Amino acid sequence: MVYFSTLAGLLGSAALVAAAPTALEQRAACTFTTAAAAKAGKTGCASITLSSIAVPAGTTLDLTGLTAGTKVIFDGTTTFGYEEWSGPLISISGKDITVTGTTGNSLNGGGARWWDGLGSNVSSGKGKVKPKFFYAHSLTGSSSITGLNILNAPVQVISIDASVGLSLNHITIDNSAGDANSLGHNTDAFDIGQSSNIWIQNAIVKNQDDCVAINSGTNITFTGGNCSGGHGLSVGSVGGRSDNTVKDVHFLSSTISKSMNGVRVKTVSGATGSVSGVTYQDITLSGITAYGVVVEQDYQNGSPTGVPTSGVPITGLTLNNVHGTMSGGQSVYILCASCSNWSWTKVAVTGGTVKKTCKGIPSGSGAAC
Ligand SMILES: *[C@@H]1O[C@H](CO)[C@@H](O)[C@H](O)[C@H]1NC(C)=O
Ligand SMILES: *[C@@H]1O[C@H](CO)[C@@H](O)[C@H](O)[C@H]1NC(C)=O
Ligand SMILES: *[C@@H]1O[C@H](CO)[C@@H](O)[C@H](O)[C@H]1NC(C)=O
Ligand SMILES: *[C@@H]1O[C@H](CO)[C@@H](O)[C@H](O)[C@H]1NC(C)=O
Repeated sequence: MVYFSTLAGLLGSAALVAAAPTALEQRAACTFTTAAAAKAGKTGCASITLSSIAVPAGTTLDLTGLTAGTKVIFDGTTTFGYEEWSGPLISISGKDITVTGTTGNSLNGGGARWWDGLGSNVSSGKGKVKPKFFYAHSLTGSSSITGLNILNAPVQVISIDASVGLSLNHITIDNSAGDANSLGHNTDAFDIGQSSNIWIQNAIVKNQDDCVAINSGTNITFTGGNCSGGHGLSVGSVGGRSDNTVKDVHFLSSTISKSMNGVRVKTVSGATGSVSGVTYQDITLSGITAYGVVVEQDYQNGSPTGVPTSGVPITGLTLNNVHGTMSGGQSVYILCASCSNWSWTKVAVTGGTVKKTCKGIPSGSGAAC
């Protein structure tokens, strides 16, 4: 008895010692052609190739809880069945996850089936409930998403939440078909909350809402982006959520064209929180219809009240080399109750025809309306 159990123990230990250093390599390179198989098999794979998957209606392509170090490869065209539900259509989480796509990959949301001009404003019971597209939630360690081509998301596209240490490189989002008859709505490209050390570079976005919207988080960089058709590079609305701190954000070397806004920082009326250390540098604007640069502390239920409040101070706002042209609208608008320590240099936005009165501009900051 003793002999056998000892032998078994020895063999077990030997097997463990041999397997441990190469555990990842010994997991399989898996290729899946259905969402169900991917979900069932995902934790046993070192790499997961998703080969032209047609995700059934009302289900998530569920790649949450992946084993650390897993590689995910989107291959071919990924499509989604139609159902009115809140989604998400794709969800990925884990530590040290690398997501890529093969040449010609397409994640086709088929958004036109949902577009009704109402976006996510369906609380009145009118309009279709639309699935969110891609949750990049709880991606940690050193994770990345690179080279995906996203087409026609039903509503908000990529949600980054509770992620720490995530880079998104060369993501293309083309929702421009939603411009027809103004049917696409609330198609924010990158919504970021409760996340830190996020790096988004060389994104190309055509949509109908924020190119980037940061509701909370720290150390977030968006660089080399090209945004058109939407609402620009936004911080906020900040306030009224569980996390209301935005700190150390950099928008760099990006182009915003044919959009409602260029640069926008907004906070919620009566709420508390803070926005500090936000930089916009080397931003080129063209064809902006509402505001080239707008900072306002008066948002309530998605609309400005016209009366700024001081509970979410905006400090350390740097604009350097933000320039371009308007198509109507107001070049610069500032409505502050608690704004300080700003530094604006080489801000040259021209062609605005509206001139609402600005308020609370920090003196000596170089900011002007
Ligand atoms: C939402 O829809 C209601 C009517 O259904 C409308 O009054 C309101 O302005 C809409 N809100 C937004 C943000 O579009
Ligand atoms: C900020 O995030 C980047 C990744 O985007 C990381 O390389 C850098 O170390 C972070 N900085 C701090 C102070 O954590
Ligand atoms: C950026 O967008 C504009 C407008 O769509 C386009 O003319 C330009 O070629 C784009 N640049 C890059 C690098 O994609
Ligand atoms: C002012 O803002 C700059 C830029 O964010 C920051 O480095 C500095 O610490 C701030 N100073 C104070 C007194 O808050």
